Amino acid sequence: MKFATIGHLLAEKNVEQFPESWIHGNLIVSPELNVHGIKGYITGLTLTARQMMELPRETVRKHILDAALFLQNELGVEVIQLGALTTSVTDGGVWVVKQKEYRGYVNHGDSYTAAVTCQATLKALKLFQKNPYDQVLAIIGAYGVIGEAVSKILVPQFQHSILIGRRQEKFKKLEENVKGDFETTVELKTKEADIIVTATSHPTALLRSEHLKKNAIVVDVSQPPNLSSVICKQRPDVCRIDGGLVDFPIKIIIPGMPVGKNFACISEVIMQALENERENHVGSIDLNHLRKTEKWAKKYGYTLNELTNFGKAL
Ligand SMILES: NC(=O)c1ccc[n+]([C@@H]2O[C@H](COP(=O)([O-])OP(=O)(O)OC[C@H]3O[C@@H](n4cnc5c(N)ncnc54)[C@H](OP(=O)(O)O)[C@@H]3O)[C@@H](O)[C@H]2O)c1
Repeated sequence: MKFATIGHLLAEKNVEQFPESWIHGNLIVSPELNVHGIKGYITGLTLTARQMMELPRETVRKHILDAALFLQNELGVEVIQLGALTTSVTDGGVWVVKQKEYRGYVNHGDSYTAAVTCQATLKALKLFQKNPYDQVLAIIGAYGVIGEAVSKILVPQFQHSILIGRRQEKFKKLEENVKGDFETTVELKTKEADIIVTATSHPTALLRSEHLKKNAIVVDVSQPPNLSSVICKQRPDVCRIDGGLVDFPIKIIIPGMPVGKNFACISEVIMQALENERENHVGSIDLNHLRKTEKWAKKYGYTLNELTNFGKAL
């Protein structure tokens, strides 16, 4: 099954990272990749993160559908992965599945991302010899696709959790499905947390120094990142960790990505293609599927050996 990911630029200057031969109008398309014999493409819209969130939703969705149709009709792609904010603007990918012209499968890649985020969080605590049972966790973007799954898995393991979103009414479903000791809030109440997971669709950095407790750990899944390198420099006591990166045994070119690393979401669609699993994985995460992606990752050797900050080993 041929795969493709559809991402977008994080900032305008990022377009310079791509060879001119990759740019086809509104879409950046990598040369054909071969991963364990499976063919595919890494692609991205030329829209920035800000444009993804601020342009009229219908305009952005049209760009995504046009990309999906190009990949299906011109390149023979059968499964697409919605990278970065393409999931947020399509109701977790549900909107793409409803478009009749696109006949292939859709995966948001958030299931394996959520799994790796939980692994990174627990691994970081182990590294600092801390026990989740006496730690306060904050999750920003807690009722989002990744945030919901991470909340379900991690909250029961922590002393207390602060689940953060923007709209109080959207917490209802989360409150019914999460076990453990937690509160929900629309305030950025991270200052009380020992460890913070970010999984937001906020198009720029969100956390400032005053939001961070001394020696806080931040597992930053968001793309673009929610904790900037500038704040990391100002606050050397704070440990920022890339939330959704895995060690990847095959060399594929992903501009801006250190060799030997890959986004968990891209890894997920590659694994789906390798498994020839003809299903959609959109909307709320099925924890059984999430566990399956962990098994696939073990089988193909995609692991979280090393924690990194902006791609550099801690
Ligand atoms: N590293 C990786 O491999 C990887 C893979 C996939 C995704 N990602 C990144 O992970 C992030 C989350 O993805 P997702 O698919 O879970 O997105 P999502 O379903 O759209 O969830 C994002 C959530 O963030 C909330 N939010 C946005 N701005 C906020 C703010 N200022 N304060 C509090 N909450 C805020 C949104 O709330 P509302 O619904 O109220 O707007 C939404 O519920 C994105 O940045 C994406 O690019 C990374």
